[in-house]
Amino acid sequence: MKKILTSLALLGLVVAGTAAIAEEEHNAAAPTHFPINEPKEMSWSFAGPFGTYDKAQLQRGLKVYKEVCSACHSMNLVAFRTLEGLGYSEAQVKTLAAEYTIHDGPNDAGDMFDRPGKPSDHFPAPFPNEQAAASANGGAAPPDMSLLAKARGVERGFPRFVFDIFTQYAQGGPDYIHSLLTGYDQTPPAGMVIPEGTHYNPYFLSGVSLKMPKPLSDGQVTYDDGSPQTVDQYSRDVSAFLMWAAEPHLEDRKKTGFRVLVFLLLFGALVYLTKRKVWAEVAH
Ligand code: HEC
Repeated sequence: MKKILTSLALLGLVVAGTAAIAEEEHNAAAPTHFPINEPKEMSWSFAGPFGTYDKAQLQRGLKVYKEVCSACHSMNLVAFRTLEGLGYSEAQVKTLAAEYTIHDGPNDAGDMFDRPGKPSDHFPAPFPNEQAAASANGGAAPPDMSLLAKARGVERGFPRFVFDIFTQYAQGGPDYIHSLLTGYDQTPPAGMVIPEGTHYNPYFLSGVSLKMPKPLSDGQVTYDDGSPQTVDQYSRDVSAFLMWAAEPHLEDRKKTGFRVLVFLLLFGALVYLTKRKVWAEVAH
């Protein structure tokens, strides 16, 4: 009897707790958990067990990064030569690298000097150091973009993370970036306080607003393959590009994984048949 009573009391507590959490979630004026909105799930060419990158999309994404994001965000770990993975030839990569000026040195006289970029160089950073980056952006340094698509992703919670194992959902990063980039221009709910110098975005992971102003607008980047020049398209393309930057070997990984599974299945079947054969003579 005592046990039953304790269980009932516990159950009561849990129910009350859940109700309290649900209530908090609906109190928009003072949200206690972020993001306020979950990222929208987009359909990406690289999703699922056989996903591959859309090279034309990656090239457009690179253009958006170069013309827009690179004014504030560095991408320290990505070397120009790896851009061959986007379908560019060696010569094209050379030309692309040479558009950048790299601060190098010291030379034989002990001086630092500037020279055109080479394919082995990495993307130069827009600011000399993190403090300079922060002070130019209202106190928040724009994060490096090399691994951003892997470093951001909203926790999916039970039961979704269980299904994610079977659907192989791994696009939390690009989904988040896309939602964030297209999530500006909304009016905050009445009563919500938006600190000065920040911009309301219900998709931002760590607060009601962030220091990054809306970076994209329609028609800002010229595409020469006829793709729509809209914020939505720019944002999809740059999110896909950032996924590639963070995981350039995704296609190989998926291919190898599939082959390993096929091998394990065949090997398992052979082992089973061998076991049957070996034990066939033994009386049960
Ligand atoms: C004017 C400078 C500026 C430009 C241009 C810019 N950003 Fe940012 N970005 C920032 C700053 C500053 C932050 C840090 C915001 C904060 O923490 O409050 C940031 C943060 C981010 C974040 C991380 C948000 C998080 O969860 O922490 C992402 C993703 C991002 N930017 C994507 C982009 C993309 C993609 C582009 C290009 C389309 C871009 N940004 C262009 C300044 C910029």
